[in-house]
Amino acid sequence: MKLHTLLLSTLLCTSFATADNTAVKQEGVKYIKMLGGALKTELKAQMKADKSGMGALGFCTAKANEITVDVNKKLPDYAKVRRTALKVRNESVNKPDALDEKVMKEYVAAIEAKTFTPKDIKVVEAGDSTRVYKPLVAKAVCLKCHGSDLSEEISKSLATNYPHDQAVGFKEGDLRGVIVSEIKKH
Ligand code: HEC
Repeated sequence: MKLHTLLLSTLLCTSFATADNTAVKQEGVKYIKMLGGALKTELKAQMKADKSGMGALGFCTAKANEITVDVNKKLPDYAKVRRTALKVRNESVNKPDALDEKVMKEYVAAIEAKTFTPKDIKVVEAGDSTRVYKPLVAKAVCLKCHGSDLSEEISKSLATNYPHDQAVGFKEGDLRGVIVSEIKKH
């Protein structure tokens, strides 16, 4: 009987924990999509309007952080969403912390081991918050501003606006960074 009760409570606790984790994951993914979607829509439109990428670059330089701040205003007080990377362009707002770095290194290792899938959302406990990470893989379209073969005008603009830019030299399929949502336990 005792064993039965113990087993039952273990089962219940486990399923509660999983249900909880799934709910946080879903909520985090929702916020990640809000930020990712807002940036992607703008980037696409800008790249279409000006194939050189200069219009989009001006846009990202001026507005990426503003869009991030706006999306965050729409979230509940206990939640945040941001972008970061191992090699950052805008170090004043997108710098990773130790946990971000650890998670991103796991993605890089998976890419190297060829076990990676972009659907690998990671849910990580971080003190009084839970973090939900989504990997961002460099695609051909990203390389105009993050690749090795940048046009002269793009290089110049980056050098002026981001003198410490590390976010170049990527190839298709590399981990460019992550979007991370932080959800305070509430
Ligand atoms: C038109 C140029 C351009 C293109 C194309 C572009 N980016 Fe960026 N990217 C930028 C700029 C400029 C910043 C810095 C924005 C800021 O000041 O917040 C940036 C920042 C980022 C960041 C935030 C971390 C950091 O380094 O500061 C990530 C992640 C990122 N880009 C991923 C991508 C991905 C993935 C793609 C392709 C889908 C892409 N970018 C395409 C110009 C571009």
